[in-house]
Amino acid sequence: MRDNSSFKIALYVSLGVAVCCGGLSIFLPLLIWQMVVITFLPALLAFFIGRFLIQKYIISRVIITSEHIIESLKDSRFKSSVENSNLGEMEVLENAVKRLMTEQTTEIGHLKELERMRKEFLGDVAHELRSPIFNIQGYIHTLIEGALEDAEVSHKFLGKAAKHVDHLSSLVEDLVTISRIEAGELKLEVTEFDIKELIKEVIDLQDLAAKQKNINLKCRFDEQVLLVRADRPKIKQVLNNLVGNSIKYGHEEGHTVINIEEAPGTVTIKITDNGEGIAEEHLPRIFERFYRVDKSRARTVPSTGLGLAIVKHFIEAHNQKILVTSREGVGSIFSFSLQRGA
Ligand SMILES: Nc1ncnc2c1ncn2[C@@H]1O[C@H](COP(=O)(O)OP(=O)(O)O)[C@@H](O)[C@H]1O
Ligand SMILES: [Mg+2]
Repeated sequence: MRDNSSFKIALYVSLGVAVCCGGLSIFLPLLIWQMVVITFLPALLAFFIGRFLIQKYIISRVIITSEHIIESLKDSRFKSSVENSNLGEMEVLENAVKRLMTEQTTEIGHLKELERMRKEFLGDVAHELRSPIFNIQGYIHTLIEGALEDAEVSHKFLGKAAKHVDHLSSLVEDLVTISRIEAGELKLEVTEFDIKELIKEVIDLQDLAAKQKNINLKCRFDEQVLLVRADRPKIKQVLNNLVGNSIKYGHEEGHTVINIEEAPGTVTIKITDNGEGIAEEHLPRIFERFYRVDKSRARTVPSTGLGLAIVKHFIEAHNQKILVTSREGVGSIFSFSLQRGA
């Protein structure tokens, strides 16, 4: 291609020379051979000289400039290598290559981040599964090795093993939910339902856990029906998790209050507790999967660190928001909005 264009330029130069010389020759009373010599020999000479010059200077400049472009792109300096040059086409080429490189760098960065997250997720899953399995294994082996003979010990060990089995089961369930969400399989079945009725249903489910810690669990709204448009089972899971957390991380004799704020087109549900609260530095991370403020406490409080990640996914799938305000030692308020029904 390069050869072809240099050939064309040389041809145009030589034709130009030929035409000039030919023009001159009209005014001279010369023979045809003189015309040939005057017209075509200089043209031929100009053709080769032109081609030589083009190859030597222009093409070598093109090559040197291309090399500069590649070198600057290689170490991501992206500084123009054709500054102050007349090679406009090279600038176009440089810009095109830069665009391509920028797009590819962004894409590679994105893929690396996904790969990092995948590895981190696998590591976290393995770590979370190991602990309950290890515990169940320990209790069963101790029972087989003789503890089974002692009715009291075996009852105690079986009870502990059962707790770990329950934890394992909720962990697996949360993992299935998270992986479905991340595989893009989260589908909403939106219906209209009374949010107040659902909140009362969740309060009934959490009542026993609240009583065990003497936590006063109450809702603060009237009896009037309030319709929202959302996926009922998913909002139930959201409420269950938020109310469950308020009890789990609440103090003995504390309280959890659920109230509703109405605005045109939206309702906001607020879950307020006076529990241990969350320190400011942890707040931005609590919706990340497996994030727990106090990891060591996971041994005493059943915890997967997946609940809030699922809650956030569910609320955002409804194009709504979940917010948290909290003060360590004072308590937390989790609130989320929903679209109002007709
Ligand atoms: N109401 C709350 N009060 C204090 N801390 C909370 C509350 N809700 C959540 N957290 C903190 O956020 C972390 C993540 O919550 P979550 O994702 O539901 O996981 P899990 O409850 O399984 O630990 C919890 O481990 C806890 O440290
Ligand atoms: Mg939770």
